[in-house]
Amino acid sequence: MKIQWYPGHMTKARREMQQNMKLVDLVIEIIDARIPVSSRNPDIDELANGKLRLVILNKADLADPASNERWEAYFKEKGIASVLTDARNTANVRKISKKIEEVSREKVERDRKKGIQNRRIRAMVVGIPNVGKSTLINSFAGKSSAKTGNKPGVTKGTQWIRLNEQADLLDTPGMLWPKFEDETVGEHLALIGSINDEIVDQTELALVLIRSLEEIKSGFLSERCEYTAENTTIEILEAYGRSRGCLVRGGNVDPDRAAILLMTDYRSGKLGRYTLEQPEDKKF
Ligand code: G4P
Repeated sequence: MKIQWYPGHMTKARREMQQNMKLVDLVIEIIDARIPVSSRNPDIDELANGKLRLVILNKADLADPASNERWEAYFKEKGIASVLTDARNTANVRKISKKIEEVSREKVERDRKKGIQNRRIRAMVVGIPNVGKSTLINSFAGKSSAKTGNKPGVTKGTQWIRLNEQADLLDTPGMLWPKFEDETVGEHLALIGSINDEIVDQTELALVLIRSLEEIKSGFLSERCEYTAENTTIEILEAYGRSRGCLVRGGNVDPDRAAILLMTDYRSGKLGRYTLEQPEDKKF
């Protein structure tokens, strides 16, 4: 499946992000724990050059728990601070806040030695569409007693959310764009719902999903419908459609309706927790 997509508003978003990047010390990069490689735009390494960094593996609640641990270990080994989260859960805010303290400790100490006291760390959240940037910012804002308001020398209207004793967070996220380095990246982004469904053939996508999940766990749908390893992906989709009542006159399955139901069930986590990319597949 070939998917190419660059939303029109991205050029403006990129400019805005570059402006905001100048205001911060720490860049919090959100990626999707189900596809940590494809949901990341490697350009961020250059854009955030010289900044403190933290990677958030979000939607960890939808990803395979064992893979989550492997990704966490992978980042640790690389010396990159990372944290697994479900951005909707405000309990995670403390966990992230602690991680931010850890990441900033050295800089705060350095500032102190230079005689700079109580200079607050400023952070911003960046990521490609749909990874959970706004959800995370809202979780932080909900926890915070008050926004810290405009500050001198900062673009008018810039709002900061108080994160903890030391750090403030910019209330607008930085938008990154997906980087389609190969076909798999586009497919994986489409599978998790990061690409507008209107530009992707959902039936074709459902077949990609069946192929991918069968590779990860053969018989992943066998509790829901009857099929064997001998069946083709379209036959498996039909078996699923039949089990979900997607029938047309004559008792045939409507594959398009079956595909939409399958995609919805997968994305909501109803079919289980799957991680489509493992650390050993492709390195950062
Ligand atoms: P963005 O700013 O990066 O574009 O993403 P946004 O926060 O809008 O989140 C995109 C969708 O992902 C939202 O769902 C949001 O609720 C969901 N989401 C964010 N973080 C997590 C997470 O850690 N786990 C899970 N399971 N979902 C998460 P939506 O359906 O578009 O909106 P809504 O119906 O939830 O409001």
